[in-house]
Order: sequence, then structure tokens, then C-alpha cells
Amino acid sequence: MKKEVRKAVIAGNWKMNKTPKEAVELINEIKPLVKDATCDVVVCVPFVCLDAAVKACEGTNIKVGAENMHFEKSGAFTGEISADMLKAVGTEYVVLGHSERRQYFGETDETVNKKVLAALSNGLKPILCVGETLKDRENTITNELVAMQTKIALLDVSEKDLENVIIAYEPVWAIGTGKTATSDQADEVNGVIRNVIKEVYGEVAAEKITIQYGGSMNASNCDELLSKVNVDGGLIGGASLKAADFATIVNAACK
Ligand code: 13P
Repeated sequence: MKKEVRKAVIAGNWKMNKTPKEAVELINEIKPLVKDATCDVVVCVPFVCLDAAVKACEGTNIKVGAENMHFEKSGAFTGEISADMLKAVGTEYVVLGHSERRQYFGETDETVNKKVLAALSNGLKPILCVGETLKDRENTITNELVAMQTKIALLDVSEKDLENVIIAYEPVWAIGTGKTATSDQADEVNGVIRNVIKEVYGEVAAEKITIQYGGSMNASNCDELLSKVNVDGGLIGGASLKAADFATIVNAACK
């Protein structure tokens, strides 16, 4: 596997943090710190911050993503946001299937698949999240579970469309807990995901796809995690809310 053929992507997932005004302030702090980055830099922000974030990122190398979307085009889905709506405000990426959405909002592999297909057909780039709970890991089903989540989420996605998909391996037990997967654990599961892509789409697609790690990645542990051949970037929660820490991770991915 040749890591050089893939572009590293560092994406911040701000979760339920920041008002539009605070979002602009944080982006303005991040801008000068990442302006020379050779990797892709994305900030995924709450829906109400998207418009302000897109404007604040205009003319910079920072791209903007949403944190969720509905799979239907429009209709009676109170409180939901469609791909069209995200596109209309200039959103480029969308986090899909995050474990917090699976855990608290009833998302399933099937709804995640519908969302991935809807995002791609509307020109949005999904950041597809997969990962096991601590119980899954203790039951030694991590590899099988993550392989299954990946396969189902990508059902009916063409090889061409796959080029716009980023996968993020996020072990649930490592999210917001300060417990990071070891770089070997991250590399192993990212490798399992890459093998699934190889099995379904072939070697070339598997070499090209960006697979991130997420779960307590921070300014201190990013070098070690990003040094692994199968870790092509990060999906960063807590540390993405601090401009200096986020920039440290971005710059580590550009080495
Ligand atoms: P933390 O970096 O806060 O652990 O969150 C990771 C995450 O869930 C990113 O999507």
C-alpha cells in the first residue's frame, strides 16, 4: 500500500458547539495557521453556522462540511435538512453515520447507506463514520463489525462515486474519552476497511480512498497516529475547537 497516492484530510467535527459568530471567530483564528497546508482541511459545523462558515472560508484552503443530513429531497420531515439545502449554502462535505447519531438518534447502517447515496447524488462528499463499541472490541468482533458497517453504508455506490467518499474509523470507546486507539490498533482497523474496499471495488480504489482515524486525536498523539500507512488523516472532535491544536494536527498530516 502506498500512502503517497492518497491525499490526507484533516476534518474538525465541531459537534453541538459554537454559534455562527463564534464559528467565524474560530475560523479566523485557524486560517493563518493552516494556510500553507498541503493536505485538505475541513471544518464540519452545526447547521446554523454553515452559511457564516462558508463565507468566512471563502478564498482560503478551508472547506466546510455539515454534521448530518436527511436522505429525502424534501417533504414532511420536521427538523430535518436535505442535501439540496446543504448545497445551497455552499457546503462541500457531510459527516454521516457518526456514532453519536447511531447511539442517540437511531441511525442504522441502512439509513446511513441512504444518506451516503443521497449525498453523492447531490455532489456532497460524505465522511462516513464506522467503529465499534468497547463491548464489540471485548467480544473480538471489531473487524467483522466495521467491515459490515462499511459494506452496508456503501451498497450501490459506484466506483466513480467512491472517489468522493472519505471513511473515518472512529472507535466509540475512544470518542471524547481521552482514550486513543494505539496507532497499531488504528492502522489495523483502517487496513481492514481498506481490504473491504479492495474486495468490493478492487485494488486501485482501495489504494486511493482516504481513511481517517478519529477518537481523542490531539496535538500530542497525532504524529504517531498519522505516521501509520493506513491512517490518511483525522476526524477531530474536541481538539478541533482549539485553533492551535487543530493547526498542529493539520500540519502533522502535511509532513
Ligand atoms: P474527540 O476527538 O473529541 O474524541 O471526537 C472524535 C469524534 O467523534 C470526531 O467525529
